Amino acid sequence: MQRADLDWKNLDFGFRQTDYNIRYTWKDGSWDAGVTSADQYIPLHMAATCLHYGQEAFEGLKAYEQKDGSVAVFRDIENARRLNRSCEKIYMPQVPEDLFIEAIDRVVNANRKYIPPYGTGATLYIRPLVIGTGARVGVKPADEYLFLVFVTPVGPYFKGGLTPIDLVVEEVFDRASPGGVGDVKVGGNYAAGLRASFKAKAAGYTEALYLDAKEKKFLDESGPANFFGITGEGQYVTPRSGSVLPSITNMSLQEIAREMGMNPQSRAIPVEEIFGFVDAGCCGTAAVITPVKSITYRDKKVSYGNGSEPGPWCTKLYHRLVRIQLGEDPDPFGWIRKIPQP
Ligand SMILES: Cc1ncc(COP(=O)(O)O)c(C=O)c1O
Repeated sequence: MQRADLDWKNLDFGFRQTDYNIRYTWKDGSWDAGVTSADQYIPLHMAATCLHYGQEAFEGLKAYEQKDGSVAVFRDIENARRLNRSCEKIYMPQVPEDLFIEAIDRVVNANRKYIPPYGTGATLYIRPLVIGTGARVGVKPADEYLFLVFVTPVGPYFKGGLTPIDLVVEEVFDRASPGGVGDVKVGGNYAAGLRASFKAKAAGYTEALYLDAKEKKFLDESGPANFFGITGEGQYVTPRSGSVLPSITNMSLQEIAREMGMNPQSRAIPVEEIFGFVDAGCCGTAAVITPVKSITYRDKKVSYGNGSEPGPWCTKLYHRLVRIQLGEDPDPFGWIRKIPQP
């Protein structure tokens, strides 16, 4: 296989064109057999519900070239399940899990030359989405849907990878509300977060850290990633909240933390606890683990690690997770699925 000519070691988390995407259409109650398309554009009716009423859900996962040269994805069945929870919440049809897996295999195989080489730190980001394409003017679910999967090679989400970032607690804008759709991966949550994210960046921080929308007392998550802190006793704690996206990375890190004796706990975390943590991080498919250097809450700032270096807990968790993802460590959890060669 001839690999694409890209500067693999210096990729950012941005869109780069690849050759093919896979598209399935839902009509009259079922999905079709899907097509492999070279088109970057979607012909869309101007009254499609995704444009007006937010019928849009997506996922994000990665394919990793393994140490042994094979290609694997990480826990994609969990992405399939979460996509279906998203679809259910906004009245879109389910994508059968085997169809989701088939789509992943097809899109990765069709774009093999864009899979970043092992050891470069880059990965092939996979973006499945479901959108309402049927035309409506009244607020109603569509009668036609598109399930599309594209891929793009990416580097780290936060520039610098394992380089620590600065968070600021956001007290004005909410990303999601209790009883809303914050616990699923639908586009509106991200639109709601854009303003807080820009505000944080304009003030010199990397990202906003949200509080629960009701009481503004408890930690929720950061814009594109879950949050965890490490207590003075070395315990891994992460917010439990109905408006946080259940992160597959976070679920995995809790298993790894258990393995490391860090007694992981998911619970409501009062914002003041940030001042007692000895280390903290953001986690997600894109963020992997991004160590947190500081959190600013009102006029107080707390720092972790020694400034430029990630804290020891983040470093340990990061290496264990990434070693499993890259096939450097055996996978005792059954998280890795090899993509079958066509
Ligand atoms: C809002 C939000 N939280 C958390 C995550 C991390 O989830 P995961 O680890 O499944 O990628 C993401 C990314 O998918 C996200 O967009």
